[in-house]
Amino acid sequence: MDHFLPNGSTLVIRRPRVEDAAALLECFRQLTMETDFLLYSQAEAMRFSIRDEEDFIRQYLLQPRHLLLLAEVEGQITGSIAINQSRFEKQSHLGELGIAILRSHWNLGIGRRLMTAAIRWAIEHPSMEIIHFGVLANNEKAIQLYRNFGFLECGRLPQAAKTIDGSYVDLITMAKRIKNP
Ligand SMILES: CC(C)(COP(=O)(O)OP(=O)(O)OC[C@H]1O[C@@H](n2cnc3c(N)ncnc32)[C@H](O)[C@@H]1OP(=O)(O)O)[C@@H](O)C(=O)NCCC(=O)NCCS
Repeated sequence: MDHFLPNGSTLVIRRPRVEDAAALLECFRQLTMETDFLLYSQAEAMRFSIRDEEDFIRQYLLQPRHLLLLAEVEGQITGSIAINQSRFEKQSHLGELGIAILRSHWNLGIGRRLMTAAIRWAIEHPSMEIIHFGVLANNEKAIQLYRNFGFLECGRLPQAAKTIDGSYVDLITMAKRIKNP
């Protein structure tokens, strides 16, 4: 489905294809350069090859219990959202969410649309009941986005991340029950 953004461009939210590997890797590397809110560093992102990225995409195509959606604006991959079901049987009702969008495309409502699509998928998932993730405590915008969707803070690991300037940041765990068993 096409979404019309406030800046006049068109957003397509879609599943990935193996051929997206180079563009998705480029997007990931760019993200680690322009935001300190992701746990991956720039150096770590540079270590991934296109082959690694192809395998990363294949894992979602082969395993329908996980979700990866891409945000494509005018043919450019500008972000993604993923939900990964826990590999443990005792936690098969848990899905861990991750989202990131290129800075050039922030504040256009792409995050809200990706969250809507991913949560809709999770509700249809046969066993997923709770979505959770960690977010750095200084990432106010992301926390607001999650609150808008009813996610609540349920834990905090003090000083869990060290930023580029050497200061420590807490990691907040947020979660939401999306359906009952
Ligand atoms: C967090 C992120 C995904 C948000 O994406 P986005 O497309 O810019 O978000 P949206 O435009 O949909 O806005 C989402 C909400 O953020 C809130 N928001 C926007 N600007 C804000 C600000 N400066 N401070 C606080 N909240 C803000 C609004 O409530 C907005 O919802 P609304 O438009 O319905 O009112 C994006 O900024 C990003 O990728 N950041 C870098 C990576 C990252 O932090 N990922 C999350 C790791 S846990």
